[in-house]
Amino acid sequence: MSDSNNDSNSEQPDYSFETLAIRSGHPHTSEQEHSEPIYPTSSFVFNSAREAAARFSGELPGNIYSRFTNPTVRNFEQRLAALEGAERCVATSSGMAAILSTCMALLKAGDHVVCSRSVFGTTFTLLNKFLAKFGVSTTFVNLTSREEWQQAVTANTKLLMLETPSNPLCEVADIQWLADLAHSSNALLMVDNCFCTPALQQPMKFGADIVVHSATKYLDGQGRCVGGAMLGNDEIAEEVFGFLRSGGPTMSPFNAWVFLKGLETLRLRMDAHSANALTIAQWLEKQSGIEKVHYSGLASHPQHALAATQQRAFGGVLSFQVEGDRDAAWRFIDATQMVSITANLGDVKTTITHPATTTHGKLTAEEKLSSGIHDNLIRLAIGLEDIEDLKADLLRGLAKI
Ligand SMILES: Cc1ncc(COP(=O)(O)O)c(C=O)c1O
Repeated sequence: MSDSNNDSNSEQPDYSFETLAIRSGHPHTSEQEHSEPIYPTSSFVFNSAREAAARFSGELPGNIYSRFTNPTVRNFEQRLAALEGAERCVATSSGMAAILSTCMALLKAGDHVVCSRSVFGTTFTLLNKFLAKFGVSTTFVNLTSREEWQQAVTANTKLLMLETPSNPLCEVADIQWLADLAHSSNALLMVDNCFCTPALQQPMKFGADIVVHSATKYLDGQGRCVGGAMLGNDEIAEEVFGFLRSGGPTMSPFNAWVFLKGLETLRLRMDAHSANALTIAQWLEKQSGIEKVHYSGLASHPQHALAATQQRAFGGVLSFQVEGDRDAAWRFIDATQMVSITANLGDVKTTITHPATTTHGKLTAEEKLSSGIHDNLIRLAIGLEDIEDLKADLLRGLAKI
């Protein structure tokens, strides 16, 4: 942001998170619009053949084609970079595109990745099935076992990857410790910050080199668009940008605009999601028919103290095991009337999921067991509905276990 009242073009690092979320990344155009404009254009025109040549050669900066750059996408990238404290952001067409693009840009045949076993199932498949085809091998480890991380790192390890808190068990990893481990092995640490967003956790402050996002979740916040982003220093981001230019998984300007507006209310929403989730987690712990509640905001959670040091609050996602088997969990889910049975999360609407048969359905029985994905486990992504209405709906489920 500049000193001028009418131009939020250049960043000033001393603005607070809330101010950056609302005002950064919007250079007003000559139209003097107040709200961020959308540029739904596939290409950009040049004043002359000479100018076109200079843009293509890189001699002159400026837009060429929206697979490369687009002003609305750039607005979103600048705002998210300001919020994560990153030098640069590269927006992508989905969260998976952010992870794929980062891997494609930074890894080559013969390289090795160490990845938490508790990552999103599709991330597991991307590494285990597709990147493996191109000679990139991955060792999967227990997110919270320092021993397993240490033992898995080899001379060829280039990347350590994780999500914290994890999905759906809300396990928390020590980002600083993992960053030190990565750097002592000349590797990079990549954190998927989907569950917390920068409103609750800024992994780069703890030494992470790369942050990735499924913008589809809390950055949008209302379940409208699919998108993603990677953040890093200029050098890393330039490599990833180079892959996007050639590979093509770029964000659409319309989606960028939706995410840009989503960021404006991110802190408020994340605080409200966290407050509602903590209330529900504490309440569920006291209900009969509940075997265990997994939420890092609970004193009973094994990494509660660590979560409190890394995160501003504990986020909107929790999971719990009902007393009984898969059918008991399904009966609970089917008895609810208000919460949405859907696999998405990060929405103002509360969602309910049975991980063992949906998001983690492709894991073998053994993999499910070692990842704690039990048949009686249910995930809730707590929305912003009235807390009493939420409890009343969950009581319908409890009555049917
Ligand atoms: C933690 C996490 N990372 C990445 C993804 C993938 O994001 P997208 O669906 O936007 O590709 C998801 C999707 O659920 C996720 O939960």
